[in-house]
Amino acid sequence: MTDLDTLEGDLLGQVGSASDEASLDAVRVAALGKKGSISELLKTLGGMTPEERKERGPLINGLRDRVQGAIATRREALAEAALEARLSAERIDITLPVRDAPESRGRIHPISQVMDEITAIFADMGFSVAEGPDIETDDYNFTALNFPPGHPAREMHDTFFLAPDHNGQRKVLRTHTSPVQIRTMRSQEPPIRVICPGRTYRHDSDQTHTPMFHQVEGLVIDKTATIANLKWVLEEFCRTFFEVDAVKMRFRPSFFPFTEPSAEVDIQCSRKGGEIRFGEGTDWLEILGCGMVHPNVLRNCGYDPDFVQGFAFGMGIDRIAMLKYGTPDLRPFFEADVRWLEHYGFRPLDIPSLVAGLTS
Ligand code: DAH
Repeated sequence: MTDLDTLEGDLLGQVGSASDEASLDAVRVAALGKKGSISELLKTLGGMTPEERKERGPLINGLRDRVQGAIATRREALAEAALEARLSAERIDITLPVRDAPESRGRIHPISQVMDEITAIFADMGFSVAEGPDIETDDYNFTALNFPPGHPAREMHDTFFLAPDHNGQRKVLRTHTSPVQIRTMRSQEPPIRVICPGRTYRHDSDQTHTPMFHQVEGLVIDKTATIANLKWVLEEFCRTFFEVDAVKMRFRPSFFPFTEPSAEVDIQCSRKGGEIRFGEGTDWLEILGCGMVHPNVLRNCGYDPDFVQGFAFGMGIDRIAMLKYGTPDLRPFFEADVRWLEHYGFRPLDIPSLVAGLTS
């Protein structure tokens, strides 16, 4: 191996291992710069005999050309790699989906939505909303509502009793929203027109019953409120709530201690193919209880039944929510499973209104 071969091997090795433009340039200067190793060799050509020059000239020039070529090729490769690195570092993956804003990711529970729908419908008829506590006294839940002491109707309610307090009084988890009637009448003067939506509790659990459920109570008290008014209010409600032009209703005589006369109301429906439709068909579905407020209840609230009268009704909210939105089982309503809520819940800005449509 000649000294030229050794030098070439060294230089090409350095070119190959130069990892950036600066180190490559240092190799170039060391070989081809003014005092570079190849430049020094070229300078020796001047002092040679013509024969020597003829032999050494092409060898040294060839060495220079190959080293120059290798540097140029390496420079190109380094520039390309640098560009590649920059492109991948600065890359933005525009295929990533945009994350939804919180207001479109959240969901309104069907019960809340149905309560809002009910409130919108009754507000349009001039009703306001009244509320009461979930923990009630026996008086509000039963006695003031004309349930006689020891009456079997108390048993029918599957009541949850709390431990006796320091007076020995056992409070209850309210078994219905009717106690809010008493609270309203004891704190307001007629005329009264309220609905009372809220939670209620009974010792009961299966596919269509949960220990906690929801009811809405209605109460109208004035000098002239009649059963005819009651029927119109309920028909108007059902028609609007189920979004049908007309709905046939059936008032069946019934018994509640706090109303006289009392009725249970069925609405006409069809159950063809396992699907319930309202405003058609030959089946009936019970949806609420109602009646004229019992004179004893009026008296218990300090009203004189000779001067005021009125009607009341009570309806299970969960049941009509299931009917309207086609959910077969009540229990998942209260399991807080986000997948269920994602499917059956409502978008937060779909606020029900009679003008914009209840369900848009
Ligand atoms: N409170 C009754 C229940 O839970 C429902 C009810 C029936 C309410 C008739 C009323 C009414 O206001 O008039 O079963």
